[in-house]
Amino acid sequence: MDPTDIRTRKQTHLDLCMSEDVESDDPGFLRFRLIPESLPELAPENIDTSATFLGRRLSLPFIIGAMTGGAGGNPPLNHILARAAARAGVALALGSMRAAIEVPELLDEFDVRAIAPDVPLLGNVSAWQLRDDSFRSRTVETARRLELDGMFVHVNAGQELVQPEGERTFIGALDAITRFAAAYPGPVLLKEVGLGLSTRHLARLLDGGVIGLDVAGRGGTDFVRVEALRSEDPDAQSLASALESVGLPTAHALQRLNEELEGHTTGRRRRPLVIASGGIRTASDMAVALALGADLVSAARPILLASQRGEDGIVDWLDARRRELASLCLLCGCRTPAELKGRAVGL
Ligand SMILES: Cc1cc2nc3c(=O)[nH]c(=O)nc-3n(C[C@H](O)[C@H](O)[C@H](O)COP(=O)(O)O)c2cc1C
Repeated sequence: MDPTDIRTRKQTHLDLCMSEDVESDDPGFLRFRLIPESLPELAPENIDTSATFLGRRLSLPFIIGAMTGGAGGNPPLNHILARAAARAGVALALGSMRAAIEVPELLDEFDVRAIAPDVPLLGNVSAWQLRDDSFRSRTVETARRLELDGMFVHVNAGQELVQPEGERTFIGALDAITRFAAAYPGPVLLKEVGLGLSTRHLARLLDGGVIGLDVAGRGGTDFVRVEALRSEDPDAQSLASALESVGLPTAHALQRLNEELEGHTTGRRRRPLVIASGGIRTASDMAVALALGADLVSAARPILLASQRGEDGIVDWLDARRRELASLCLLCGCRTPAELKGRAVGL
């Protein structure tokens, strides 16, 4: 892999996500309303928005979504995100680590543990690349060096199909994910990238050691569109339009996943952590997602946009959402965001 190619591609992704209309349609949260409590019997000081994730404390059940690493910058974006995550008390998911695994000189951009010693820090690799035995073992070694708390494995078949240099064959990834989960010493979580995680292989994934699922549904950043904007090939652009009918809006993906999990988590199987992402833009989106069964929420592009005002911009965005989420909890008679579970009605 040529480091210049990686830098250019990563920087183009960031530029397009900052300057173009890359959001798909409605993530579905407005089709639900939270059930209020008219007599909450609570004061603001009774509300505690904190949460625990991978054994570490958060001020809010929030993960900065996987975005980057390898794009360059001084300081690199991951370092700004890490400092902001540490100040705001949220978790951080690094972007795809393929760059760092294949080009060791890019590792520094992912190396943020010293900046954020107490932050739950997650790596990110593609399920398709995990089919390669050597890539799996290099991922384990890189994660150890970066002192990560866990690893997101992403599945993004839609994006790959439109990406000029993307994968076209998706056979063998399920097996690769479970092999990786068996070999990796920490928690492994699976995430989509904008189409909403499907549920067909839940039993194998959970039995294979996957402990968390991020639905990453339709309605937020649309990476099929991002790749179409990056490509100069009219066929890729036409394919991207054809793919517009595919994808579960985040709220629906979340409901479907939770319904399926009811049937899958009887007996010895433990319920995985459920993460809602894809179009989380407001505290109201966060609260509805938690009401629909998410344990944590995550957003990427809003954080990228906030980062244009640097670390302070991100911290301000997160502080505002935390205060608003606390007000929503109070209004629903909930002492914690976790108590919101089940407190939504469909319209
Ligand atoms: C600039 C940018 C780069 C991204 N890179 C990755 C990546 O490397 N790996 C990944 O799993 N998801 C990646 N994503 C997807 C996000 O993690 C997330 O799933 C998606 O953007 C939906 O969240 P949002 O609507 O809040 O942006 C990226 C998103 C953005 C905006």
